[in-house]
Amino acid sequence: FSLKNYNTFGIEAKASQFASVHSIADLQSILEQNPTEKKFILGGGSNMLLTQDIQALVIHIDLKGKKVIEENDDYVWVESQAGENWHEFVLWTIAQNFGGLENMSLIPGNVGTTPVQNIGAYGTEIKDTFVSCQAMTIENQELKRFTKEECKFGYRESVFKNEVKDQYIITSVVFKLTKRNHKINTSYGDILGELEKNNISTPTLKEVSNAVITIRKSKLPDPKELGNSGSFFKNPILLKTTFEKIKAQFPEMKYYDISPTEVKVPAGWLIEQAGFKGKRYGDAGVHKNQALVLVNYGNATGQEILAVSRNIQETIFKTFGIHIEAEVNVI
Ligand code: EPU
Repeated sequence: FSLKNYNTFGIEAKASQFASVHSIADLQSILEQNPTEKKFILGGGSNMLLTQDIQALVIHIDLKGKKVIEENDDYVWVESQAGENWHEFVLWTIAQNFGGLENMSLIPGNVGTTPVQNIGAYGTEIKDTFVSCQAMTIENQELKRFTKEECKFGYRESVFKNEVKDQYIITSVVFKLTKRNHKINTSYGDILGELEKNNISTPTLKEVSNAVITIRKSKLPDPKELGNSGSFFKNPILLKTTFEKIKAQFPEMKYYDISPTEVKVPAGWLIEQAGFKGKRYGDAGVHKNQALVLVNYGNATGQEILAVSRNIQETIFKTFGIHIEAEVNVI
């Protein structure tokens, strides 16, 4: 079974077995019926690089549905099943005038995988509106609800990438959104400028969303046109003491303070400085508008993209003494 249409990098790789599940009962029974089979859980396929065929039962989580489960005058609690497309879900919340997800418009992938790496963009992360998620144990099909605290969210991090890695399948997520007094957040770099261009001073949720969409489209390639998985690397976090030494050598280096002792350096800047922006090696390459994004021009293999990523990591380490870590799951 070809996975080419199930990963946004558009890598040709095969699964030895494949099943799509459309209900909790389906999911329960397929897990129950294949207790010893190796399993690979697939959501939107937007954060992985397939470097080989998958000798496992690939379970595609296609659970659909979204609804309001509770509300008061100020807030609404919305539940989405894991297989809903994230961006369509965001647009649906905006259409109901529910606030909180607008800055995360146009992020590829499905709702169910958003907690795994606490997705974020333009000054917001899902932990800001996340209430809880339901997940099923792969081993004995028990359902468990994870609270926000139990998820241990960090920058592109959660318990699902660490302590309980590969043990659970997230089946639905609950968000708490505003019905009025929306907390419009235009603090991230380009948003204000984009709104000003359109003479908007008190933006609506929709206008913030549209600004984010415009910015993303100008920098980030559309996976339908050019295979990619968004940012390939995480932005490295350095101790200020270490950073000061590096900055003495590279005074132009960009950074953001994230705590009294740590700074975050944009990996895209490091990669651009190292000369990789827009470089192409066969069908694998570095995007011309955003150096943090690796792209597949057509028929690149996962191995070829991986080779480019390693070359970048080594060069960045040699040049700056900084290790940049992949954000994408390399399979
Ligand atoms: N930069 C460059 N050259 C580049 C790219 C970036 O110099 O080619 C520098 C610029 O100075 C820019 C700074 O890096 O001001 C930050 O760039 P940008 O705003 O594009 O964001 P990013 O740090 O590269 C992160 C997220 C993105 C998210 C944007 C916007 C990570 C790993 N990535 O990228 O998330 O959309 O911020 O909030 O944190 C993703 O995770 O897949 C993703 C796209």
